[in-house]
Amino acid sequence: MAKVELREYTKPTTMSNVYDYQRSIYLNGISGRKPLVPIDLNDLEGEAEKYMAPGAFSYVSTGAGAEETLSANRKAFQSWEIVPRILRDVSQIDSSVELFGEKLSSPIMLCPIGALDLAHPQKEIAVARACEATGMPMIISSQASTPMEDITAAMPNALNWYQLYWSKSPEMTQSFVRRAEQSGCKAIVLTVDTATLGWRKRDLNEAYSPFLRGKGIAQYTSDPVFQKLMEMPSENGPTPRPRITPQTIATLFAQARNVPGGFFSNLRSGKGLKSVRTFARLFSRPDLEWRDISKLKEMTTLPVLIKGIVHPDDAKLAIEYGADGIIVSNHGGRQVDGSIGTLHALQSISGEVKGKIPVLIDGGIRSGADVFKALAWGASAVCIGRPYAYGLAIAGQKGVEEVIMNLKADFSFTMALSGCRSVTEVGINSLKYEWEV
Ligand SMILES: Cc1cc2nc3c(=O)[nH]c(=O)nc-3n(C[C@H](O)[C@H](O)[C@H](O)COP(=O)(O)O)c2cc1C
Repeated sequence: MAKVELREYTKPTTMSNVYDYQRSIYLNGISGRKPLVPIDLNDLEGEAEKYMAPGAFSYVSTGAGAEETLSANRKAFQSWEIVPRILRDVSQIDSSVELFGEKLSSPIMLCPIGALDLAHPQKEIAVARACEATGMPMIISSQASTPMEDITAAMPNALNWYQLYWSKSPEMTQSFVRRAEQSGCKAIVLTVDTATLGWRKRDLNEAYSPFLRGKGIAQYTSDPVFQKLMEMPSENGPTPRPRITPQTIATLFAQARNVPGGFFSNLRSGKGLKSVRTFARLFSRPDLEWRDISKLKEMTTLPVLIKGIVHPDDAKLAIEYGADGIIVSNHGGRQVDGSIGTLHALQSISGEVKGKIPVLIDGGIRSGADVFKALAWGASAVCIGRPYAYGLAIAGQKGVEEVIMNLKADFSFTMALSGCRSVTEVGINSLKYEWEV
């Protein structure tokens, strides 16, 4: 595992801070001030829909197919119950964890989410500032709408990792990794469940893709290798010109607006369209194999995590091929429909990994109780996705801050009220299977 200097990423964690946070919410009520975002993370989606364009909302909220995996993620959490212990002096709670030599104030991180301009014009910068304000680590997406250098600059004291989609161009993949290292990212997260985009019915019904409008491709358009590749002719010959309709013109305008450079010069030079076409040509390698993990390990001294594992045999292979960590994930139900809920997957993966490397989990985590259950099943930390994108849509940076603080506080309260003073005390004996009775 790569050696990194131990740094503390701390913000309110002591129980008194968490009580203060709860008290401040009640006190605000005296002067008629209510929270900016719904306290229950499950309610964020309905509220965010009011603030987002229909296509953008569908893109964020959709799952693959009949969205059974989306439900499976939630059901897996609901199938376990916490059995609280009492009278254990919970006046001091320590919810911190250590990951790859970094101390985090709570075992919660933000998932990589692409194209956050779908939620708010301040996109990833607002999220990065919210992380800076709350001490929350962020995993920066390959599909962000802001270059990674600008995102990391907006969160100088907070931890960030870089999520990599392995491009068809090896030089560009290397360039992404190099830029992430230079920007101060502390780990590379290779997402392996997206050889291609899933069959997402709501996006398909609307024939909507943000990337084709030039959103979510800022890591590419800001990359020197991409800029060179953009000037090279495609091996498949020239792409056919789209049929010109009012919608085509609107899309060409959106592309020209969303890529770097001036709107009019992009429109004149066709840079928007060229960027989108080059991105589509280079996105993702369906032929990626296990031995590529070893190549990635050679490219960087940073820890490498593999995101998108749900099978225990794949967890075993990840260790064999040198992964430093795993994120148990089904991409928030957006890839394979009818797939296993991630908490159920975590159970067998924890059994396979046996603590050899950190195992993180995402998918359907919506409360402190969910975080608690994931930790009880052996997760080193959890990641949340849609809730912070919805907080961003509702109230920008402040909305993201509230989502983060609410989840952190909820987790600390769950720990305290279940009789756990530190994360190491959150164990499987704190849970009971609902159907076991
Ligand atoms: C709108 C959206 C965009 C996403 N973009 C990425 C991405 O760029 N890279 C990635 O690895 N995962 C991406 N994901 C998946 C998340 O990282 C994460 O696995 C998932 O959202 C967790 O589930 P949750 O939303 O239920 O919390 C995206 C998810 C959503 C909803």
